Amino acid sequence: MVMMLALAEAITFANCARCKAKYVLSPEDLGERGSRVRCQICGNEWFQAPSKLNTLKDNFYLAPYPEERRKQFEPQAPKAPRPNGVNIFVANLPFQASESDVDSLFGAVVSEPVVNIVRDPVGRSRGYGFVNVEDGDAAQKAIDALNGSDFKGRRIVVKHSNDSSLESSSRRRRPPPPPTGKSKESPLEGARR
Ligand SMILES: *[C@@H]1O[C@H](CO)[C@@H](O)[C@H](O)[C@H]1NC(C)=O
Ligand SMILES: *[C@@H]1O[C@H](CO)[C@@H](O)[C@H](O)[C@H]1NC(C)=O
Repeated sequence: MVMMLALAEAITFANCARCKAKYVLSPEDLGERGSRVRCQICGNEWFQAPSKLNTLKDNFYLAPYPEERRKQFEPQAPKAPRPNGVNIFVANLPFQASESDVDSLFGAVVSEPVVNIVRDPVGRSRGYGFVNVEDGDAAQKAIDALNGSDFKGRRIVVKHSNDSSLESSSRRRRPPPPPTGKSKESPLEGARR
């Protein structure tokens, strides 16, 4: 009994802030000054200090990461644009804005917008994307209503995706750099409480 308690107390883990997976890591895994770790489920990366590890408490146990949740973090296939739809280009989006946020924004102006945000390989928004709408009239309506408008504190750019100045709008910004430190793949399984 005493042995088991001692063992349980020795288990330390790190949390992925994005998908909530837990990784068993010991202070020794991280080195004296900590290390960079990468979540194998959602690709989130962070710097883990050994002093910031959590300790597994009584009545908590590690279980396999649920398959349904894992699927939620798989990269989404781009949604198919409708056959006669028109693509609008949207830029200067806040990096934290999701497809559904942009969907709500455009949905207030045109019917059934299909939103695709351009993302990097680990799923972070690049701050621009495309919205497919019914036809040219709907596209014009959305551009007139939303170009230059404020969306969560940013003045968004909305234009026809055949606009020749499109390139410059998407190249101007870069997402915030991930924290520095050496990269370390965690070989361990994620789990939940
Ligand atoms: C872009 O497409 C829209 C609507 O489809 C059209 O009205 C406009 O003339 C096109 N612009 C260019 C530069 O081709
Ligand atoms: C969008 O708005 C900007 C100013 O906010 C303006 O310079 C640009 O011409 C507008 N583009 C379109 C397609 O309306």
